[in-house]
Amino acid sequence: MQPNIYVTRELPEKPMAALRKLGNVICNPEDRMLTHEELIKNVAGMDAVLCLLTDPIDEAVLKAAGPQCKIFANYAVGYNNIDITAATDCAIWVSNTPGVLTEATADIAWALLFACARRIVEGDRYMREGKFTGWAPKLFLGQDITGATLGVVGAGRIGGDFARKAKAFGMKVIYHNRRRDEALERDCDAEWVTLPELLQRSDYVSLHVPLTMETRHLIGEKELKMMKPTAILINTARGPVVDEKALAKALKEGTIWAAGLDVFENEPEYEMELRDLPNVTMMPHVASATIATRDRMGMMCVENIQAALSGKLPPNCLNP
Ligand code: DGY
Repeated sequence: MQPNIYVTRELPEKPMAALRKLGNVICNPEDRMLTHEELIKNVAGMDAVLCLLTDPIDEAVLKAAGPQCKIFANYAVGYNNIDITAATDCAIWVSNTPGVLTEATADIAWALLFACARRIVEGDRYMREGKFTGWAPKLFLGQDITGATLGVVGAGRIGGDFARKAKAFGMKVIYHNRRRDEALERDCDAEWVTLPELLQRSDYVSLHVPLTMETRHLIGEKELKMMKPTAILINTARGPVVDEKALAKALKEGTIWAAGLDVFENEPEYEMELRDLPNVTMMPHVASATIATRDRMGMMCVENIQAALSGKLPPNCLNP
């Protein structure tokens, strides 16, 4: 009997084709997020589930899958959407996709940093609106990047890659991590500092921490007030790491200069006030969205599902 594999939303063709070689693939026919009720209904009786960061995989969903289910393979590196303890209790493996989206995610953090510092989106809008009347000394003045101080909060894989790329711009890198990273210090002369020191010294603060109980609202009103009025905040990690209401207020009142956001506190919702602020650049959670990266993420899910279905430990298993 072929194993049943459920896919909560269609992936690009390469991983879909590879999945079909592993068993009977049943895929959500609509290109939209499933509700919790639909998830519960659709995973029942499946041997493997390929899920997304938008799917809340809690105890109810895991139990609904049934005792034959071997794995929930998350199509993301972040896995705050899955209750790993409940999965372990249900004897279901959980996997993620580390490593394959590091560069793409670091690159989008840089794209947002540039967009904010040099007001790229504002300038583009101005051109499209036909407002350009010629070169002007005070038109769209931005912030220097070369030689500035870059603060990296969470210098893991993605934060580390982001920090190393700063070398090309002659930036001073400071970072805040639970542990010191001597390789990073060697590679880009980075300095390990406390969070308050990082916030006070940085021209750019980029967030690269996973979402946990400790990092929820890591950046709130108090932290934003510690930043320079010329500073720019970049978030490509998870929305709830920043208190979005406090951020909107800080951007409106000029507490900080700008923000570049790829993630939001209550996706797909976001603070309406952000829409009206010219000093925020927003992207719809697309940090890993390159053709090759999304293929690699999918193929990694396939490898994990293949291992689990043959009773082997998935290579990217997250269960303790
Ligand atoms: C992840 O993999 O966690 C990213 O947020 C996907 O873009």
